[in-house]
Order: sequence, then C-alpha cells, then structure tokens
Amino acid sequence: MNFTILRFDSIDSTNTEALKHARQGADEGLCVVARQQTAGRGRQGRVWSSRPDEGLYFSVVLRPKLDPQFLPLVTLMSGVAVYEMLAELGLDPDIKWVNDVLVEEKKICGILAETTETEIGLALVVGIGINLTSGTFPPEIAETATSVSAELGRDIKIAEVEAALARFFGYWYDMLLGPGGPAEIVNAWRKRSSYFSGKRVRAQVANGPVAGVTDGLEPNGALRVIADDGALHIVQTGDIERLRAVEPSV
Ligand code: BTN
Repeated sequence: MNFTILRFDSIDSTNTEALKHARQGADEGLCVVARQQTAGRGRQGRVWSSRPDEGLYFSVVLRPKLDPQFLPLVTLMSGVAVYEMLAELGLDPDIKWVNDVLVEEKKICGILAETTETEIGLALVVGIGINLTSGTFPPEIAETATSVSAELGRDIKIAEVEAALARFFGYWYDMLLGPGGPAEIVNAWRKRSSYFSGKRVRAQVANGPVAGVTDGLEPNGALRVIADDGALHIVQTGDIERLRAVEPSV
C-alpha cells in the first residue's frame, strides 16, 4: 500500500478528517496525522486525550477488497501491526480484544475503526492513538494507561514511531487481503494476545453483562466466551473487562 500523509499541527480529530477525505474520493492509503487533536475520540463516545506531541494521532483511509463478513478483522490486523511496532522497539505488548494494545497490563494504544459510504464504495478509516509520553495524563487514565517513553525509559521520536507503524500496517494489511488472509490474521492475533483463550472476562451481550472465560475467536474475529453457566456467547462488538479470580462475576 502507498501512503500519502496529510499533516496538521492541530485538528479536531484525525478520524473525522480522514472520513471527510474518504467521502470526497480519497484513495486507499491517505493518512491524516496531527500533533494535537482538540476532539480526539475513542470507542463508545469516549474522549481520547491528545495533547500536543504526547502521542501519535494517525488515521488511514482503506478501501479493502474483502468479503464484508471479514471487515471486523481490519481492527484486529491493526492491533497486530501496533504490537509488532512496539515489539521492535523492545517492548513486550499484549492485545486486549478487540482493539487495545497493552504493556504491563496498561493501555498504550487504542484503535477506532469507522466506516462511511462513498460514491466509489464503502470506505473504512482506522484511527490509531499511541501514547508516547505519560507525564500529563488526565487523572482518570493515569492509573490504567502507559506510554512508549515510560516503558522504554527513554524519549522516543514521533517520526520513528510513525514510520515503523506505517511499515507494519502495510505489511499486515496486505496479509489480510492476500490468500487465506482472514485465517492468517486470526492466527497472528492468537499468538500475540493473552486474551485469546483462558482469560476470565466480563462481556456485554444482548441480555446484559456475562462473566466467563475466553475460548478463541470466530473466523471474523468475534470473541468466544464460555459463560459460568456453560453457555457459549459470541461477542461481536463492545468492550470486555478483565476479571480477577477474586472478583464477583457480575
Ligand atoms: C479507543 O481505545 O477507544 C480508541 C482510541 C482511538 C484514538 C485515535 S487517535 C487518532 C484517531 N483520531 C481519533 O479521534 N481517534 C483515533
């Protein structure tokens, strides 16, 4: 994939900007990168703290030629790409279903995939936020988030992280679109996530929260959870929460 990068000092949200370009017909590979976001957003309507130069705020337009049932795998593939980038820097990451990358059980990266209809077909925007420094984390995330420089114990250049991310993203995206790609991505994700199986979690399903143990992924990336009553739940979307052995189930 060829990347074309649009750079901003400050913008509301790189995802919003990339979605706008996608609707205007932008090619796959158009990226929006900003030094700061004034309205950075996460999943479930959450705010993504985006102070100047304290994170990489990156969004890319995709037009995947993929059976629509496998579109959720774009998020998992993005997590694998971030994992590889962090591992290359010397960190020991983990991927929490569906889209968080953790180091030492703290969140270092979030991924927000959004779709939009355009005149030339469906487009996807994958937004990736990577914490680079943690000195001024808002209090509500200070305990649960970390950053690349905190974990490495040294400063890191944004350009270095951005270049490595683009390289790994291109590699794993091509893998997803290649022969047997969806199964390759599920397999790659399995090897990089402690959440793949045997992890005690609470998930939101149609009837409310359910506690159980993870039991692998469906071919489209949905998470299988065996509830405490033995029922199998296929979790397609939403957040999961890790449960410690001593915590009550629901
Ligand atoms: C999450 O964990 O809830 C997802 C966070 C995604 C944040 C990134 S930062 C770049 C892009 N622009 C946004 O407004 N959000 C994503």
